[in-house]
Amino acid sequence: MRIEPLTQAHERGGFRCGVPSFDKYFRAQAGRDAAKSLAAIFAGVLPEGKLAGYYALSAAAVLLPDLLGGPQRLVSRYPVLTAARLTRLAVDKRHRGQGHAAVLLADALNRLRASPVRPMAVIAEIPNETARHFLEHAGFQVLLDQPNRAFRVLQTAPNREAS
Ligand SMILES: CC(C)(COP(=O)(O)OP(=O)(O)OC[C@H]1O[C@@H](n2cnc3c(N)ncnc32)[C@H](O)[C@@H]1OP(=O)(O)O)[C@@H](O)C(=O)NCCC(=O)NCCS
Repeated sequence: MRIEPLTQAHERGGFRCGVPSFDKYFRAQAGRDAAKSLAAIFAGVLPEGKLAGYYALSAAAVLLPDLLGGPQRLVSRYPVLTAARLTRLAVDKRHRGQGHAAVLLADALNRLRASPVRPMAVIAEIPNETARHFLEHAGFQVLLDQPNRAFRVLQTAPNREAS
């Protein structure tokens, strides 16, 4: 799968991940948000040219007390952390279960790590139970007081490469 910045050239009309708000956003809004730099949106394109999935990132800040566990001690002098928000990550229903979501997530994390203003943590939205399980499986923890969001501290080690 090739992962590249979303452009108007990507055919998004047939994309279906099953979460209506994610599908509607990708089909109707994502192109404009990308063009205006309101979000960083990347498309996963299969060798035959079909769109397998996408993810969207934006900037965020998070209060340290909102996080759980170990990271608090690591950064306790800094009550507000710079963070990135993974607002959406989705794989088309026809291409599920083939590791595409894992590759998209690894690509997102690697891009953030490579940034000169590398965020301390990534915050992801949790639209449903499938997403919660996927994110927890990927090492995210649910935010203490926001059950619809999960975070993961951004470590420096490289993650799985896109293939
Ligand atoms: C969640 C979603 C992205 C997973 O896509 P996918 O292509 O089936 O996932 P992958 O095949 O890449 O699986 C990646 C890993 O997550 C695990 N996984 C996938 N779905 C899972 C689930 N529902 N529960 C637990 N683990 C899950 C896989 O076992 C795999 O584990 P591994 O890396 O140890 O082998 C997909 O179901 C989707 O698009 N859902 C709708 C949109 C959505 O809810 N997005 C929110 C995600 S933050």
